[in-house]
Parts: sequence; structure tokens; C-alpha cells
Amino acid sequence: DLYNFRLIGPNTKVHGVIGNPISHSKSPHVYNPAFKFVGFDGIYLPFLVDSVSRFLHTFSSLDFVGYSYTIPHKEDGLRCCDEVDPIAKELLVAMIKRLQDGKLLGYNVDYLGAITAIEKGLTESIGRSKSSSPLSERLFVVIGAGGAGKALAYGAKVKGARVVANRTYAKAKELAEKVGGEAIVLSDLEKFHPEEGMVLANTTSIGMKPNIDHTPLPKEALKHYCLVFDAIYTPKSTRLLQEAQEAGAAVVYGTEMFINQAFVQFENFTNLPGMYQRKKRHSNKK
Ligand code: ATR
Repeated sequence: DLYNFRLIGPNTKVHGVIGNPISHSKSPHVYNPAFKFVGFDGIYLPFLVDSVSRFLHTFSSLDFVGYSYTIPHKEDGLRCCDEVDPIAKELLVAMIKRLQDGKLLGYNVDYLGAITAIEKGLTESIGRSKSSSPLSERLFVVIGAGGAGKALAYGAKVKGARVVANRTYAKAKELAEKVGGEAIVLSDLEKFHPEEGMVLANTTSIGMKPNIDHTPLPKEALKHYCLVFDAIYTPKSTRLLQEAQEAGAAVVYGTEMFINQAFVQFENFTNLPGMYQRKKRHSNKK
């Protein structure tokens, strides 16, 4: 039932995820039921692909809307697009979409999953209206400067002030310069509190299973933050998040980033407001 084969017709829009390996991908399990749920005539397939350019050439005759890229094709993705969104030039191409004129646009909206989850967390905990964008009024501290740290720092750039804290200062500096922020070495973050009510995002593996007793920032320092996000999702609640709650901060779990990322990609593929549609249908049922 996952692929709704009986529903495929001449107007069915083809989507998929390109990777190698690919059988582990959860994306078809997310998109196909979602397409069905909202009545969208689309299908989402996993494609085991060696060469992205050969794949795109072969499949160009299909009525495809877009593909998601996963390991190891994100860099190839950059080379196989006619146009690349500026953020994707830094974060690599995660999605590709065929525009009306047939050109292929490469882009990356992965960072929006975390930023949307954090904004929702702030709105719920502080009770502001969504339109006031509370994140833009706060200092956003990102711990880590790897792939996930980069995505968060770029997401924060869209919103305003940001600080990159990393174990290796040179990497923090390089990323901070790119996003117009400030760099700090992680061991100094404990003493860093230029203002109250900051937002913290951990993107490192500190605290991940099996090292669940590790934390990137001591509890005492967490009182300066109004919200703490951890990209780790195993365990669901890390020591950092538990101590943040004890220190009175709102928390956002790593799983929320994935859920929101799926919503963002869904909206991009279908042009349907996934979140709104979902809520509306639920409220209709009541
Ligand atoms: P990802 O793509 O998942 O973000 P990554 O590119 O390997 O993973 O980046 C891991 C990040 O976590 C890096 O910023 C790394 O710090 P360094 O730049 O100093 O290597 C950080 N990190 C990982 N383990 C860490 C630890 N035990 N203490 C401090 N920072 C750590």
C-alpha cells in the first residue's frame, strides 16, 4: 500500500530520493502516506543511483517534480543543476526541482526544519504571535561547526544575530565569518553571556548514546538561555535538555527538527501547505 500503485495515472507526479545505499530511506514512508492523506496525485520512490547525471538524463522524460538527494550525492547535486540557490552553494544540494521552463533548480531547505521547530518552541513558551518572529530578537548560539552546525548557522543568519561555538576555534571562525557572526571556542562558552534570554542549539554528538552523561555546556550556564535545542535524537532527551529544563528554559528535541524538515520538503514538492492542511483535516474530523 506504501506506493499506492492502483492510483498511478497519466497525471501522477513522480518524486523520489536518490542515494546509494537507499533501502534504509524512510522518505517513501513519509511522503507516500502524506500524498495520499491530502489527496495529492503523486508518488515518491527510492532510487539506487550511481551517477546522478546519467539518472537525470534517463529520467528527464518522466513527469517528475523533484528529487531529494542523500549520501553520497549531495555534492554531485551541485554539478547537475542549471541553477543553485545561494544557501545550497554552502550547504550542498539536498533537493532538486524542475521549474516550469524545464530548468533544474538545486536547493537546500534542511536548515528550515530546525529553525521552524525552534521558532515554534519560542512561540509556544513565550506566547508571542508567530508573525513577531521572536528568534530574530535573540542571540542565537550554535555549538558545532560540522554539517549540522553549518545548516543551523545559515538558518540563524536568516534571522539575525548568531554566535558559533566550537571545540576547534579555526572552524568556528571560518563558519562565523561566512554567516557574519561571532566565533568562540567551546570551552569559553560557559563564561559567555552578553545578554539574557539567548537561544542555544547543540549540533555536536556530545551527549549522544552511549555517552548520555556528557553535555556541551554546564548546567550553571544554561540559566542565560530561554530555549535550548539539541539535534541529537538518540536519546530523545539529552542531559543538556534535561538540565536546560531544570534551569527554566524551554526545550526543543531533535525529533522535532526531522518532523518539521519533512513538512518543509512536502510543501516544496506539492506546493500544498502541509502543516495547515493537516491541522484543518484534523479539526474537520472533530
Ligand atoms: P555533522 O555533519 O553531523 O555536524 P561533523 O561534520 O563530524 O558532524 O561535525 C561534528 C562537530 O561536532 C564538529 O564541530 C566537532 O568539533 P571539531 O570541529 O572541534 O571537531 C564537534 N564535536 C564532535 N565531538 C565533539 C566533542 N567530544 N567535543 C567537542 N566538540 C565535538
